Amino acid sequence: MDKKVTKIGVLTSGGDAPGMNAAIRAVVRTGIYNGLEVYGILRGYSGMVDGDIIKMESKSVANIIQRGGTILKTARCKEFYDLEGRTKAYKHLKKHGINGLVIIGGDGSFRGAQIFSNEFDMPCIGVPGTIDKDIAGTDFTIGFDTAVNTAVEAIDKIRDTMDAHDRLFVIEVMGRDSGYIALHSGIATGAENIIIPEKVTDIEDILDQLSEKERRQKLVNLIVVAEGKFGGANEVAKVIKERMPQQEVRVCILGHIQRGGSPSCFDRLVASRMGYAAVECLLEGRHNLFVGILNNRMHYIPLNEAVKKKQRISEDWMKIVKILSS
Ligand code: F6P
Repeated sequence: MDKKVTKIGVLTSGGDAPGMNAAIRAVVRTGIYNGLEVYGILRGYSGMVDGDIIKMESKSVANIIQRGGTILKTARCKEFYDLEGRTKAYKHLKKHGINGLVIIGGDGSFRGAQIFSNEFDMPCIGVPGTIDKDIAGTDFTIGFDTAVNTAVEAIDKIRDTMDAHDRLFVIEVMGRDSGYIALHSGIATGAENIIIPEKVTDIEDILDQLSEKERRQKLVNLIVVAEGKFGGANEVAKVIKERMPQQEVRVCILGHIQRGGSPSCFDRLVASRMGYAAVECLLEGRHNLFVGILNNRMHYIPLNEAVKKKQRISEDWMKIVKILSS
């Protein structure tokens, strides 16, 4: 394949994240500015396999920077796991003359991009778009800031009820295998405990702390749990109710509310910078990287490193939770 990129495709893949539209806008307009033809691929890799590809103009991305979701739609595509599906996808790209791709999504999407790129010599650049912030090598992923702010807004509201009734609330937030939404929203809302997959939590410790707080007449308690951990908020609440039947316990699972809504200013900026950088990468002939931001500077990380590594959560964070909620 001629390495000079002239026509690029952009797609969003995996779970939608607020700010994906801002990233699409940045890719389309940076591409057009540099004389490229830009194509939107609908429904992630599914649209590539099915040939759902549309030409994008500057006006195609007007008035979307403030919108959540993704105008290109997104999906998790089973067919793309097989060589047959990927071959079909490649043929559709070839038909349009597309010789570079920008994939906006999470680590699963990057894994697909890497395999595809190696098989068909297709330059691919990833843009990390996920509310989970579970990609190593970047301080930010598109959508995380908005999701956390949505969680904080919801928890603040629940706190009013918690306080009015002297209740214990166990609130579950999203994040798949990552505890960042729980950690950030928990600290920002003054949670007494935060339960995340990255740290071993002894439920007995939590029960001891609750008993001690009960002795001090501190009945208002907030526990933020990352989904999946200990079977989620319902399971945590069940154990507390069994062992402390006198406690008034309520559960709230925030769910998909965290994925929607207008992106924060921060996510719009991150998305704009990353979308722009992704096209620059393709123009410079760089392949199989994803763009990240570390210490406020753009970084270019091999796609396979996003796949292998996970974020680490330092002990300091947990210390902060403990000291500030005492
Ligand atoms: O990856 C984003 C995310 O919202 C995770 O936090 C969550 O585990 C998952 O997607 C939910 O996926 P779905 O919308 O397919 O149920």
